[in-house]
Amino acid sequence: LANGLGLTPQMGWNSWNHFQCDINETVVRSTADALVATGLAKAGYTYVNLDDCWADYQRTKEGHMVANPKTFPSGIKALADYVHSKGLKLGLYSSAGTRTCSDRMPGSLGHEDTDAKTFASWGVDYLKYDNCYRDGTPETVRFSRMSRALKSSGRSIFYSLCEWGYMEVAKWGGASGNSWRTTGDINDTWTRMLDNIDRNDAYAQYAKPGGWNDPDMLEVGNGGMTYDEYVVHLSLWAIAKAPLVIGCDVTGISKEALGILANAEVIAINQDRLGIQGKKVTKYGNDLEVWGGRLTRHRKAVLLLNRGATRSAPVTAAWPDVGIRPGVAVEARDVWKVTRRSRASSPAASRRRWSRTRASSSFSRPSRADDGSLEKPWRWS
Ligand code: GLA
Repeated sequence: LANGLGLTPQMGWNSWNHFQCDINETVVRSTADALVATGLAKAGYTYVNLDDCWADYQRTKEGHMVANPKTFPSGIKALADYVHSKGLKLGLYSSAGTRTCSDRMPGSLGHEDTDAKTFASWGVDYLKYDNCYRDGTPETVRFSRMSRALKSSGRSIFYSLCEWGYMEVAKWGGASGNSWRTTGDINDTWTRMLDNIDRNDAYAQYAKPGGWNDPDMLEVGNGGMTYDEYVVHLSLWAIAKAPLVIGCDVTGISKEALGILANAEVIAINQDRLGIQGKKVTKYGNDLEVWGGRLTRHRKAVLLLNRGATRSAPVTAAWPDVGIRPGVAVEARDVWKVTRRSRASSPAASRRRWSRTRASSSFSRPSRADDGSLEKPWRWS
């Protein structure tokens, strides 16, 4: 959407994956504090987004949505002021239906203008718009109504469509919003995480600055996957230019999860200005894959993936598959662990060193170590 927002994928936090409906203003304020204290805000995670269940059960007599007085007694405006005072932005959630998915609060169907104006008047910066309790009106119509309402609300509001990929949303989402969910809900498992990114991969061509495919929020830090699986999770989201929206409890985040989420080089791949979604480029059997994507300054992001459950295995990235001409001198770095540079000093040396067309690497995904110790996720041969 050409509203000047989302020139790179959005980064922030959302309450749903960890807290579901169990949210209140204390949780949100302390999350904002924690984003700043941990350095995650500085790393780019600046949206603080409420998901479902923030509003009162019914609209007021005048037809306005209001915050749940028990859980958000100070109201959303005060919360936005607080979040803004920390240098962060506040996001809200609603649905293109009569109710939201939890059925705990009203949706915005038929109230798009009123709600967009209300959100704008509170200082809201982001809207996630879900697809529950819809009437028969097509998705394209219901989602673009809110798009127009936000546009005329008088405030610049990031618009995140949560339509789950029903109506090939990637094909029209960019006319309406800044990102669009391409999948059903993620959960904190290796298989669902991979399933979501696979589905999302089919729509790579539609991602560009201003509008992104969204395979759902991050589960890093929620405890259902191993350290290495979370490394893969963030790596896939980064290379696929997916929104990086943290879904764990940042106030109690572990050192390991923080280390993953705050990896500046991985974030830089995601936030690369070119905005080209990296894709799966090679598949060997069921388990081994190479993902690749172009970055600015003639750089490529390459990801070696072993989907298998236990075995370590070599994964080969053929240079042409990742867009590199055979014989070209390459400086390769592992953005997770070792920094290993190989720069050819002369054309002859370059040929000697790089004339082979295949660089072979091993990537192992060990099962969870009892002592929580971390193994290198991959190494270059
Ligand atoms: C849907 C969305 C989720 C979350 C819940 C809230 O399932 O896809 O991301 O917002 O609703 O009820």
